[in-house]
Amino acid sequence: MRHLMSPLDFSTEELDRLFDLAGDIEHNPGKYAHACEGKILATCFYEPSTRTRLSFESAMTRLGGRVIGFSDAASSSASKGESVSDTIRIISCYADICAMRHPKEGAPMVAAEKSRIPVINAGDGGHQHPTQTLTDLLTIRSLKGSLGGFTIGLCGDLKFGRTVHSLINALVRYEDIRFLFISPEELKVPDYITDMLKEKNISYEEVIRLEDVMPQLDLLYMTRVQKERFFNEEDYVRLKDFYILDAAKLSLAKEDMLVLHPLPRVNEISVEVDSDPRAAYFRQAQYGVYVRMALILTLLELA
Ligand code: NCD
Repeated sequence: MRHLMSPLDFSTEELDRLFDLAGDIEHNPGKYAHACEGKILATCFYEPSTRTRLSFESAMTRLGGRVIGFSDAASSSASKGESVSDTIRIISCYADICAMRHPKEGAPMVAAEKSRIPVINAGDGGHQHPTQTLTDLLTIRSLKGSLGGFTIGLCGDLKFGRTVHSLINALVRYEDIRFLFISPEELKVPDYITDMLKEKNISYEEVIRLEDVMPQLDLLYMTRVQKERFFNEEDYVRLKDFYILDAAKLSLAKEDMLVLHPLPRVNEISVEVDSDPRAAYFRQAQYGVYVRMALILTLLELA
């Protein structure tokens, strides 16, 4: 039995197979409409989510399966003090696969150790968000044609943004990728990530102004300042609008650059950018459903 805790749990060859399957699902949805009949997905969300939880639910429903779960720790037995290990033992009796989001880093891993069913990490604190990374990789592969050979700018909250940490970890396995980290001093990418890049001899640069590097980028990954992980409101208020991508800034970019964002967006991308053909974030959310369908099939060994 396999779980998904980090994007690195799959080799790049396995990821290729997963993305091929997601592509087939995109083009032949009817073929998969009953693939998970009789199977149940449990979504155990101890932290707010719209996209991730609903895209898992949509994915399982589109595969002909069913969904149970909770979307808030307060409405689960966690509020009575039940441990994640106990909860997953119970969920293992009720469902065939579980997607878990938790504010504590490592909680889904603790659950996986005690689980009799595959557990998918749907985001653990500021740590990892592997299914968002699978979504990002599938989007890049589908819209750019390949993974590798590009300069990617990651902009915003690089300190607390788990989607950023997961994506960098996953991208270092591909050839010829250059990273530009665009953030205020206070929200720089953690040292453990830059140490890893140095160790692997991978090129990166840290800058503050988005405008300065815009013309170099093939991909721009915008992120929200992670309000819920700040220790004080004052710092959040000071930093929340540090970057706002608008049409004027986008005019400095290459014609075929893509703007990605894991969403939800707050102010960091102005709505005027939505109609620019380079804005790919809503298409990205659609790819999130296909890749989660492929992942469920793979972990249930139905593919
Ligand atoms: C992200 C997350 O939860 O980390 N959202 C998502 O799953 N698409 C990004 C965010 O909340 O900013």
